[in-house]
Amino acid sequence: MTDQYAGLRREYALGGLVEEDLSPDPFAMFQRWFHDAVAAQVYEPNAMVVSSVSAEGRPSSRLVLLKGFTPAGWVFFTNLGSRKGVELLANPHVALLFPWHPLERQVRVDGRAMVLDRDEVATYFETRPRGSQLGAHASHQSQEVGSRQDLDDAWAAADAAYPDEVPVPDEWGGFRVEADAVEFWQGRPGRMHDRLVYRRHGDSWSVHRLAP
Ligand SMILES: Cc1cc2nc3c(=O)[nH]c(=O)nc-3n(C[C@H](O)[C@H](O)[C@H](O)COP(=O)(O)O)c2cc1C
Repeated sequence: MTDQYAGLRREYALGGLVEEDLSPDPFAMFQRWFHDAVAAQVYEPNAMVVSSVSAEGRPSSRLVLLKGFTPAGWVFFTNLGSRKGVELLANPHVALLFPWHPLERQVRVDGRAMVLDRDEVATYFETRPRGSQLGAHASHQSQEVGSRQDLDDAWAAADAAYPDEVPVPDEWGGFRVEADAVEFWQGRPGRMHDRLVYRRHGDSWSVHRLAP
């Protein structure tokens, strides 16, 4: 049983990351690595782990899709009444993780999650397929439901209620993560990985190498 886990072992030898390779800021660097992930056809390259912390200090993580990225931050959409929504509204400290295994890379972002304004939410909501728009009405995300049938009934009720345009549900929204630190990790042989982290100082960034 143990060997099933402990026996799995890969050497990471695709590349290295040295200080001279870095872009001047973490946003240009993220953009480069994101393009690499897309070019390498990484499955769901914009899937990221979002970790929030409850008011009691308990962390929780889940996958979410990155839907926008600029130097202002990483954007995702969700239900503001969900577990993550409630936690991030009460405590904006957040961590993001992009696990790009085929490239032997990960990117970690530490920062604060700022709730998106309603115009930005509406602009994105309008681009969603009708089925997803109705799903946003039918699903009070993270609440307990009685059965699958209850969910399907709620979706059908939303479909009937909004035969034309589907309005943005009040509880649906999103966050922009403003970074305090961004780490670029490249696997290396012998577990001697490269870890370079940008840390924010006002408008500028310093770069530090961390032991693997
Ligand atoms: C690949 C993938 C992408 C996902 N993208 C989103 C997303 O963009 N927004 C979202 O609210 N949930 C997304 N989910 C579902 C979340 O992982 C999670 O189940 C849900 O948001 C409820 O989490 P919470 O109870 O911690 O708030 C995604 C799940 C997977 C596996």
